[in-house]
Amino acid sequence: MSTFYLTTPIYYVNARPHLGHACTTIMADAMCRYRRLRGDRVFFLTGTDEHGERIAQVAAAAGKSPQAYADEIAAAYRETWRRLGITNDDFIRTTEPRHKKVVQEVLQRLYDAGEIYFGEYGGWYCFGCERFYTEKEIVDGKCPDHQTALTFIKEKNYFFKMSKYQQWLIKHLEDNPDFIQPDRYRNEVLGFLREPLQDLSISRPTSRLEWGIPLPFDDKYVTYVWFDALLNYYSAVASGGEKTRGLWEHVEHLIGKDILKPHGVYWPTMLKAAGIPLYRHLHVHGYWSLGGSKMSKSVGNVVEAFQLTDKYGHDAFRYFLLREMNFGLDASFSEEAFVDRLNADLANDLGNLASRASTLIAAGGPVAQVTAPVEAADRAIATGAAEARATLEQAMEEFAFQKALGSIWAFIGAVNRYVDTSAPWALAKDPAKRPRLERVLCTLADSLGFLGVVLEPFLPDAARKIREAIGAPGPLALDAAVVGRLASVPAVRKISGLFPRVDTKSPQGEGSKGEGSKGEGSKGEGSKGEESGGGKIPIADFQKVELRVAEVLAAERVPKSKKLLKLSIRVGEETRTLVAGVAESYEPEALVGRKVVIVANLEPATLMGVESNGMVLAASHEGTVSLLTLDKDVPSGSKVK
Ligand code: MSP
Repeated sequence: MSTFYLTTPIYYVNARPHLGHACTTIMADAMCRYRRLRGDRVFFLTGTDEHGERIAQVAAAAGKSPQAYADEIAAAYRETWRRLGITNDDFIRTTEPRHKKVVQEVLQRLYDAGEIYFGEYGGWYCFGCERFYTEKEIVDGKCPDHQTALTFIKEKNYFFKMSKYQQWLIKHLEDNPDFIQPDRYRNEVLGFLREPLQDLSISRPTSRLEWGIPLPFDDKYVTYVWFDALLNYYSAVASGGEKTRGLWEHVEHLIGKDILKPHGVYWPTMLKAAGIPLYRHLHVHGYWSLGGSKMSKSVGNVVEAFQLTDKYGHDAFRYFLLREMNFGLDASFSEEAFVDRLNADLANDLGNLASRASTLIAAGGPVAQVTAPVEAADRAIATGAAEARATLEQAMEEFAFQKALGSIWAFIGAVNRYVDTSAPWALAKDPAKRPRLERVLCTLADSLGFLGVVLEPFLPDAARKIREAIGAPGPLALDAAVVGRLASVPAVRKISGLFPRVDTKSPQGEGSKGEGSKGEGSKGEGSKGEESGGGKIPIADFQKVELRVAEVLAAERVPKSKKLLKLSIRVGEETRTLVAGVAESYEPEALVGRKVVIVANLEPATLMGVESNGMVLAASHEGTVSLLTLDKDVPSGSKVK
């Protein structure tokens, strides 16, 4: 059993939690859940950074004491993490006595060892970053991160002799290429170290700032924010007794790229000077920006973006953040992209699979002993699961959540196709095919069991629902995620509405009940029928719909859409473009030259950037999508009634 101790940054209490904070904490949580699945001893720490000038200022502006203000925001963080299902083992606050005690001990030790001296320094300071910037780092006289004016501060302070560790740190980074990951950030730190490293100011005079931890060797000074904050990672376990013994040697940090320098330069040199073993790895992710597309107009800032968790569900939000960001690179958030992912990956791929597989198993099972032979198609599912797990394990070593999820979704796609091709609904009609049906249902139950385990870090609620529905046997452990061992069909409860589709409001948008939903929901579970159970319509209403024969002249996939094909069709004399949601069932080439039936008088709608003029008719049942074609040839443009 290996030990894994992971930290998030401790967040400033001058503002409430937003999308950015949630991103780091969710990534850390997914990683810790995964490591627990592997059977590791895991300790997951998060918390709040409560001292410093900015917090004192914000509290004063709110007419509160800094402590009262910090209490309020720290509580908001705790509550947010609880709601998001974050499984942290501890929550540290820098105003807690257990933290202050360790900070003072380390300060005293460094002072006694001559690592801290009293001196004077003048430089350009950013209150947002709570650090000085060197001439080289300043862009147009402003902080490169906040783009705000810097303040020149010159005062007597205590300094940590950071400069003396420059060569040592360069060597450490060269000898340990995986110390800071991904590589681009290791290179960035090596870049900082090409310039002479300055000593680090670690204090503020109490005459200017009282809201900090007093220096044990001079009570007219408090310690400066980074020296206080970084030590939280150590103080949380140094003061924890039996529960946290042996953890420190395994510590790994997860941060956003904005705080690379403090973590990549200040922190290792502080640890080295204090004689504390260094952290094992620093994992650095990129930044979210807000996309500018239409639907996302409603999302003006990171706080509003965060509110989408409540609108669309915590699992969906977690999934989007993990799936859409390439670890280490920046990503763009928009409500539109979020809803697209939700509809395509969660409602359609996973939701439909869970629904149709559980419905089929519930109807055909349970079976105590499946005797039919394992066929190539069944074996392919078992192999697919093993491959998905291998990729998952390798991706998680690198915090590559996107890749991990990609591998699971490749498996989900394979199982959806397996349902299509093995067509259990057809097998069920023929008693002679009962043994084969049982084998297929067994493979499906096995696949759901696999998903109930491997999805746990990424979609904790949905994974639990899947496990509950199949009465998941055995412990929740990665080792149990194997397809091919099950020899029975368990009693399964139908899983419905795991991820309801979000109607994107446009009358014909992907996901509305118009064009999009036909192909999109084509793996359907019969729900379309339920939706259309309204009252009867007079014939005059039906006559408003103009149905015509059309010939497909050309067909191609709509870029970035799994479901949509762009068709060029001829309707009588007229040629027009139409988008059809059938890409998962028909190759574009297979449609060229065919005659189909369309609704010719629909208002145009734009789907994934392509204007659609009309709608192709298709039937769908249990995953089979079948286009309406003609029994005898008639010219394109002919009326259908
Ligand atoms: N208190 C310091 C950290 C001290 S750690 C010893 C701090 N706090 S913060 O509240 O500003 O949080 C910064 C962190 O929040 C980033 O490193 C990142 O983890 C997360 N993010 C904040 N905005 C973000 C984005 N827009 N995108 C991604 N993550 C972001 O700095």
